[in-house]
Amino acid sequence: MVLDQKLPDADGVELLQTLRDDGFNGAAVIITGYPTVRKATTALGSAATDYLQKPFDTDRLRAVARQVLKGGVSRRPWKFLWETIEKRYGFRNVLSRDPDARRCYITAARVADSVASVLIEGETGTGKEYLARAVHYMSGRCEGPFVAVNCGAIPDSLLESEMFGHEKGAFTSATALKKGICEMAHGGTLFLDEISELTPAAQVKLLRFLQERAITRLGGLKPIEVDVRVIGATNRDLVQGMRDNSFREDLYYRLSVVPLRLPPLRERQGDVVLFARHFLREVRREMGRGPTEYSPEALAVLKAHDWSGNLRELHNVVQRSALIAPGNVVKAQHIEIVPRGATAQEDETEMQPLVSLEEAGRMYIRRVLTHTNNNKSEASRILGISRQTLRAKIAEHGLAV
Ligand SMILES: Nc1ncnc2c1ncn2[C@@H]1O[C@H](COP(=O)(O)OP(=O)(O)OP(=O)(O)O)[C@@H](O)[C@H]1O
Ligand SMILES: [Mg+2]
Repeated sequence: MVLDQKLPDADGVELLQTLRDDGFNGAAVIITGYPTVRKATTALGSAATDYLQKPFDTDRLRAVARQVLKGGVSRRPWKFLWETIEKRYGFRNVLSRDPDARRCYITAARVADSVASVLIEGETGTGKEYLARAVHYMSGRCEGPFVAVNCGAIPDSLLESEMFGHEKGAFTSATALKKGICEMAHGGTLFLDEISELTPAAQVKLLRFLQERAITRLGGLKPIEVDVRVIGATNRDLVQGMRDNSFREDLYYRLSVVPLRLPPLRERQGDVVLFARHFLREVRREMGRGPTEYSPEALAVLKAHDWSGNLRELHNVVQRSALIAPGNVVKAQHIEIVPRGATAQEDETEMQPLVSLEEAGRMYIRRVLTHTNNNKSEASRILGISRQTLRAKIAEHGLAV
């Protein structure tokens, strides 16, 4: 860790001490612009491994880092971070009451330690990436990298250099050596999301990689052996893909050594309520407040919905209702199920742990407008703002009235 001594709202040395108390035991370098002897000795005597005086250049930073690392860092420097991860992805936190889903998780746990390729199939939002991460963190490679790639997002022309990297000078714009994603995942797990989106050319390259477990960088001469566990995920039916020749059969069998199929939420009896409660607890943990339970009517609303967006949709709905519900209980009227077709927006909110203050404001104004049948005087009175301000807000947020 390289840490500035003077932070806007804290003292670096003190912060480092706190992190140490929390279990961080990696090497740490304190950057200081005020190299008073006292500070430097405090830094060295307490928590920091070395200090670096400002101004410095990258060579100096590199030299110090090298020196510090030579001293040896424990194999698990991020103990406290690790505990957080384990809390989240540890097997006992992978929830489900459904026998089919449970079988998936149990198989995943059983094969986690092998290098066998895993293929996870499931509709959007069923928890494919979550399961992939769980496999990684349950495995002996947990301290290695987890590299996730969206196969649909790499253009064919860049595929080779993205996957396998290139040597300096391999082509005109290759001004420096670049490691590809396969190499970056060395010692860890490579998660290939949306695997059905690979073009035929890309499928051939991936197949060769899976067979040889080695890569050659573009412009490189020697193959480099890489040790990665590959997990593929898809929400398309690959068997159908093989039938219509859009997905290679040999690649399919290479990948699906361990096939896992996550059932959609509507087929998972009991999971809606289980996850609804789980996500509510999560909101409370993140915000430090929020409702604790659902009314029976609210649970009925949740159970009645068909959840085509699966766990992701449920997650978003719970977050919203927790934000809207004023008391301890989420009631039926707090549950807003977004009609289908609005999923693009759903995905955006998924990126954030919770909606932003601005989004919360927007949602609140919309609710008040609905409540008042779009009566702006009434709405501005409830909101405690002038009609003018309300009109400006409506325009700003693009709210239809
Ligand atoms: N077993 C689980 N326990 C707790 N939370 C879960 C579990 N499985 C999934 N989730 C949560 O459900 C949401 C969707 O999961 P994830 O992103 O893994 O789905 P996905 O199948 O990869 O979706 P997509 O196909 O849209 O990429 C996430 O918020 C995730 O944290
Ligand atoms: Mg995903």
